[in-house]
Amino acid sequence: MKQYTKSDLITLLNAQGNDYEALMKDALDVKKSEIGNVIYLRGLIEYSNICRKNCFYCGVRKDNKSNTLYQLTDDEVYQCADLAMKLGYGSLAIQSGERNDRKFTDKIAELVYNIKKRSNGTLGITLSCGEQTQDVYKQWFEAGAHRYLLRIETSTKALYYKIHPQDAIHCFETRLASLETLLSLGYQVGTGVMIGLPFQTVEHLADDLLFFKRLNVAMVGMGPFIPHQETPLWQYHTQIPDVETRMQLTLKMIATLRLLMPKINIVAATANQTLYEDGREQAVLAGANIIMPNLTPNKYREQYLIYPDKACVGDKPMQCSFCLMGRMKSINHRIVYNQWGDSKAFTEQESIIH
Ligand code: 5AD
Ligand code: SF4
Ligand code: FES
Repeated sequence: MKQYTKSDLITLLNAQGNDYEALMKDALDVKKSEIGNVIYLRGLIEYSNICRKNCFYCGVRKDNKSNTLYQLTDDEVYQCADLAMKLGYGSLAIQSGERNDRKFTDKIAELVYNIKKRSNGTLGITLSCGEQTQDVYKQWFEAGAHRYLLRIETSTKALYYKIHPQDAIHCFETRLASLETLLSLGYQVGTGVMIGLPFQTVEHLADDLLFFKRLNVAMVGMGPFIPHQETPLWQYHTQIPDVETRMQLTLKMIATLRLLMPKINIVAATANQTLYEDGREQAVLAGANIIMPNLTPNKYREQYLIYPDKACVGDKPMQCSFCLMGRMKSINHRIVYNQWGDSKAFTEQESIIH
């Protein structure tokens, strides 16, 4: 397999014109041959917008007082799980603002355990509930979660502290250690970054790609940064790349990552659709193979605005299901129903180990 140096990656991320078109084509070819023109789904449950953190980019941050705080009831979570099964979504992703109190961590374990039981083990469960202790990650793994998504946001420490407060609960080292812990516990780990952040350069993004490779993650979710008016980073909104440049940079990141790690799962993030109506389709054509359709009850969606103008906020889960089917068909991709959709990179590695 071709080895990519940092300077190769920078060249790809700077591609324009014919070189850009060639990169997109190569990435799509690699995806076709390594995993096929197929899409796996993770039905997304936005469990709660209560968060102890204050990330400078995020609308769900603790100090944004314009959100009405919510947490789904247990029944609502189980209804989402039943709907996922009915719609043939093979996997669920439970995402939440970060909390580390025992009441919360035990509740997540209970929900995971009960969803597993009620689906006879058929639903795969991905958690995305922030940084936790090794014991909590272990408890959740034993309850039945087998994948975990924790974006590093940027792999450059100096940039990390430009987009987070510099204090004990926003610690770069803790985030790195959390990823290591998740890997060591046997989770299929996903991470990712935002693209088009203030102060971010192509060199930073090349380092992010090398970081994914070094960690050998099974999944990457990355999308464009979308400035949110109620957050501190809004002050730089005129200084970031324009919409077209940010979208192209996101697509180049996806395509380059597909060349670098041919078999991993790459998410076509919903944020892409905020920039362009067909943004997720564009991400799929650049090499992504995972979509996370929203299952959250509509009455809560307005309160989980991590970034503004999120897609599908007014759409019922059923509508998203039909809509996605049509959208993927239009770009010659097939959605795979009723399967977990584990990364081939991970399953092949497992079969070597065992
Ligand atoms: N724009 C784009 N993505 C964002 N996220 C948070 N805020 C924004 C924003 N303003 C992403 C982060 C986080 C994930 C849940 O959402 O990468 O990990
Ligand atoms: Fe909380 Fe996550 Fe938003 Fe940070 S990005 S404020 S941890 S919900
Ligand atoms: Fe939600 Fe199209 S995917 S309405």
